[in-house]
Amino acid sequence: MEFWHNRWETEQIGWHRSEFNDMLLKHWASLGLEAETEVLVPLCGKSLDMVWLAQQGHRIVGLELVDKAVQSFFEEGGMTPEKDIMEGHQRYVCPPFTLIQGDLFALEEHTVQADAWYDRAAMIALPANMRDAYVEQLRRQTKSGAVGLLITYAYPQHEMEGPPFALHDEDVKRFFSDGFEVEHLEGIELEDERERGLSSITLSVFKITRI
Ligand SMILES: C[S@@+](CC[C@H](N)C(=O)[O-])C[C@H]1O[C@@H](n2cnc3c(N)ncnc32)[C@H](O)[C@@H]1O
Repeated sequence: MEFWHNRWETEQIGWHRSEFNDMLLKHWASLGLEAETEVLVPLCGKSLDMVWLAQQGHRIVGLELVDKAVQSFFEEGGMTPEKDIMEGHQRYVCPPFTLIQGDLFALEEHTVQADAWYDRAAMIALPANMRDAYVEQLRRQTKSGAVGLLITYAYPQHEMEGPPFALHDEDVKRFFSDGFEVEHLEGIELEDERERGLSSITLSVFKITRI
């Protein structure tokens, strides 16, 4: 956790994008959600994708460890949120956004009851040994029938130190094998990313349904 605090403190946030994610724009409609539904964005940082999701009519609940990230999201969006404490976490509210600041893994069951979730740079930000607990938290913070969009990268892990940590398609199916249905929507070889010295890197997009 110190790692993430340091990253935000020193502004080493190379994952942050000033544009909406193209895979989100391309695949979100395939989740078939009504506009006025609640979308959970775990490990949200100050992602602008939350703004796009709000533009589609959704209520957004972001979960983020680092206070500076949460404050930057509202400041940079010209918003002044109300602040309170909820179950030991700080909660910032400026409709349609609610950002809960604190450790995702310490969140009580059903604190959030989302209809959907969006995972870009969240599950891949966590090492393999934290991923079962992450999937369990998704289950605890969503309604039965909830759907998620998951974007992953897969590369030979020994060729680069994470994060992002590699997450292979077969591992996604394994992590979500109990109580979820997994649909692979797209997979692409990323030629440009090979400049990082990786022998191969692929991006995958999944639709995941909580049964
Ligand atoms: C790689 S960044 C991705 C942020 C965002 N999803 C995006 O696409 O810009 C991962 C984020 O997860 C946050 N994070 C890491 N561990 C966390 C935890 N246990 N609970 C909540 N947030 C966490 C970090 O502070 C960081 O902002």
